[in-house]
Amino acid sequence: MQDATLPRPALLGIDLGTTNSLIAVWRDGRAELIRNALGDVLTPSVVSLDEDDTILVGKAARARLTTHPDRTAAAFKRFMGSDKQIELGARAFSPEELSALVLGSLKQDAEAFLGHPVSEAVISVPAYFSDEQRKRTLFAAELAGLSVTRLINEPTAAAMAYGLHEQKFERTLIFDLGGGTFDVTVLEYALPLIEVHASTGDNFLGGEDFTAALLQACLKDWQLTPALIDAQSMASLADALEQLKCKLGEGPQQLHWRLGEKTFEWALDAATAVNLWEPLLGRLRAPIEQALRDARLKPRDLDSLVLVGGATRMLAVQQLVATLFGRLPYRHLDPDTIVALGAATQAACKARDGAVEELILTDVCPYTLGIETMRGKGVEGAFSPIIERNTIIPTSRVERYYTTYPRQEEIRIAVYQGERPWVRDNIFIESFDLTLTPCDHIQALDVRFSYDINGLLEVDVMLLQTGKRHSHAIDRSPTGLDEASRQNSHDRLAALKVHPRDALPNRTLLARLERAWMQSLGTERERIAEWLHGFTAVLADQQPAQIASQRSQLNDALDELRF
Ligand SMILES: Nc1ncnc2c1ncn2[C@@H]1O[C@H](COP(=O)(O)OP(=O)(O)OP(=O)(O)O)[C@@H](O)[C@H]1O
Ligand SMILES: [Mg+2]
Repeated sequence: MQDATLPRPALLGIDLGTTNSLIAVWRDGRAELIRNALGDVLTPSVVSLDEDDTILVGKAARARLTTHPDRTAAAFKRFMGSDKQIELGARAFSPEELSALVLGSLKQDAEAFLGHPVSEAVISVPAYFSDEQRKRTLFAAELAGLSVTRLINEPTAAAMAYGLHEQKFERTLIFDLGGGTFDVTVLEYALPLIEVHASTGDNFLGGEDFTAALLQACLKDWQLTPALIDAQSMASLADALEQLKCKLGEGPQQLHWRLGEKTFEWALDAATAVNLWEPLLGRLRAPIEQALRDARLKPRDLDSLVLVGGATRMLAVQQLVATLFGRLPYRHLDPDTIVALGAATQAACKARDGAVEELILTDVCPYTLGIETMRGKGVEGAFSPIIERNTIIPTSRVERYYTTYPRQEEIRIAVYQGERPWVRDNIFIESFDLTLTPCDHIQALDVRFSYDINGLLEVDVMLLQTGKRHSHAIDRSPTGLDEASRQNSHDRLAALKVHPRDALPNRTLLARLERAWMQSLGTERERIAEWLHGFTAVLADQQPAQIASQRSQLNDALDELRF
């Protein structure tokens, strides 16, 4: 029973995307998207360091990706789990610190919308995210002052939102191609039960790669190498190609790009794009085949096919899916917002709120987890699975192992994740040493793996000889980070100045105007210069009504020119 005197925490769901992030709240029996300071539901996952050393997040930062590439970072979710440091001017940030800044901005939007502080949320992650990537996501939330009530797999979140809207689906394949990651999930609706049968994917395949392929192709056609191009021109070209990619569905596209005094031209139509993207399109097939095989289904056994993620707007992707499945995919819910809505639905489900009280979700562990073993002389480094991929979670499995020789004093338990027979080809998670009481014969030990609904693992070892148990909660903190570096991240972020939320609409328009000026020429550039100077003067006058009306006109004008 909930104490009636205590306000219930807001039921929030966050989609922390490679390209765009969103936050939704469950209110009055439904999930609702929360708008940011600009009135948009999508906040670009981009962070920039302004000239006065303040942090900008979202659309303003997205515009500065072109004008100030050396002070701006995008797509850092791709590096989550690595030790990469990303430079913004003279400062360097880890991927989880940058993610924390995006989460902090979403948190502020939710607080402005709800009118009270918020402290917890369900956050979605790619189904195929590893243990370390999940832990780093939890750490990013901690840095942003959010406790995570659950990590939910992105396609599973989408499935939950669909589950509320559609009663007729049974066996469904969710195809989620975002900016940076690709996930395939096969599930079955037997409402109120939603049962995930198999999940697989590729953490390094998304819309960004399709843009990168276009960039390579046009540079090759122009016989240019990246080394010949300054950072700003390169960022401007990447931006232009991103826009060209998104317009390809409307018909053949033309690109004009200037480098110094020279103008370069490039044309692209849908058929040529499919050829250029052939290697990437090919990589979409294997996870689909594996998910179906693991779920023991054939394409014809599926009742429906759901597309999620902005990159599924590409005709080439839709065609590939139609060919593979011999039918048109189903996509009437917005592929951009469905994951956030599903995450908020999960928050409600967890809190056992109203309409979703009955919905029961079972998910799977998308990869195999096991330990390193020695299978005799010369056969070292073999991978011995304990939890096989696509086992329903939460799960707890135990396997028996033996010491290698009598009087062995110590044994190392090294935990790995992956689908390859040798540990060297899999992802190392953690290792620890156990001291044995030596005896004259070989000893047996039971290794138990428990994998929870957030996708986090615990290891438990029992030595049969002594009955001693060694419980080893795989450290919840990211393995690459010790306590000092975690505290350092907290201190560094606390010391940062973040651009005030209410000043963002004006700051964003200025950033957009600067980018438009940079990307245009001739009379169009003159017009944009007039707008930029005019708006700067209006800002100096400090008349709020005049500023708001000018801002709205100029934003519309820039939208029209597609800047
Ligand atoms: N009309 C369009 N045509 C082609 N691609 C598009 C279109 N609209 C958006 N995209 C692509 O969709 C991608 C962004 O999708 P989305 O917002 O779903 O990703 P994300 O959730 O941020 O990423 P991820 O889920 O991988 O972390 C970008 O690569 C973008 O280029
Ligand atoms: Mg996404």
